[in-house]
Amino acid sequence: MKQPRKKPPLPTFSEKELTVRKMFDRIAPRYDFLNRLMTFGLDTRWRKKTVKHMHAHPGGKVLDVACGTGDLCDSLHKAGMKAVGMDFSRGMLKSFNSNAPLINGDALKIPIHDSSVDGVTCGFALRNFLDINPFLNEVARILKPGSRVAILEVDEPENRYIKTVHSFYFNKIVPLIGGLFSDKAAYSYLPSSVIYLPEKNEIIKMIEQSGLSNVKKFRLTGGIVQLLVAEKPKN
Ligand SMILES: C[S@@+](CC[C@H](N)C(=O)[O-])C[C@H]1O[C@@H](n2cnc3c(N)ncnc32)[C@H](O)[C@@H]1O
Repeated sequence: MKQPRKKPPLPTFSEKELTVRKMFDRIAPRYDFLNRLMTFGLDTRWRKKTVKHMHAHPGGKVLDVACGTGDLCDSLHKAGMKAVGMDFSRGMLKSFNSNAPLINGDALKIPIHDSSVDGVTCGFALRNFLDINPFLNEVARILKPGSRVAILEVDEPENRYIKTVHSFYFNKIVPLIGGLFSDKAAYSYLPSSVIYLPEKNEIIKMIEQSGLSNVKKFRLTGGIVQLLVAEKPKN
């Protein structure tokens, strides 16, 4: 009898960090190509919006946490900011395609001084972290008072028609395209890892608990992506 197809299991807590790092090392060479293809180029628009919401002054130093191949660093640079990229995957850093300086480091233990950056960005990485709270605490620690963080992440659309179409595309088509051009296991993990994201508005509470304020959530492209913006209070 034919067995029903099962999704690959998610890594356990102790395996997650290493599994994620190795996975990004593996998919790095074709990561940009697949991003453009799978999002129909919309990812470029989401990044531009992220940078716009930073409100960092020209020449301001912005740390892009979990920078991957550097697309956000590039958008920050084009907007006149001094981007610094940080990621823990050497493979992604090897495929880095921006001129920004790089740090090989962990988002949960950022090797940067307190109150030393004019902004922080982070694109599509929250669900890959072992824990979100230590990352948010680190962001609150390194931001200068009055400066902002802008976090991009996937989201679940509220409209049920968009939700159905998006769910089919994200859970069935993305792994298929990923398998054709890169690594099926990795592109099956990416939609499944949404389970690691906090429920609905829970993330807003978590950001506030880290000490950041004025938290705003913007829904992009029918709610398939969320942009979270928050500020470190002025002293
Ligand atoms: C989906 S990619 C996003 C890359 C890039 N920000 C973008 O928008 O295209 C997630 C990135 O998070 C990085 N990452 C995951 N956990 C990390 C951690 N704890 N510290 C640093 N980087 C991490 C991965 O290596 C990978 O480059």
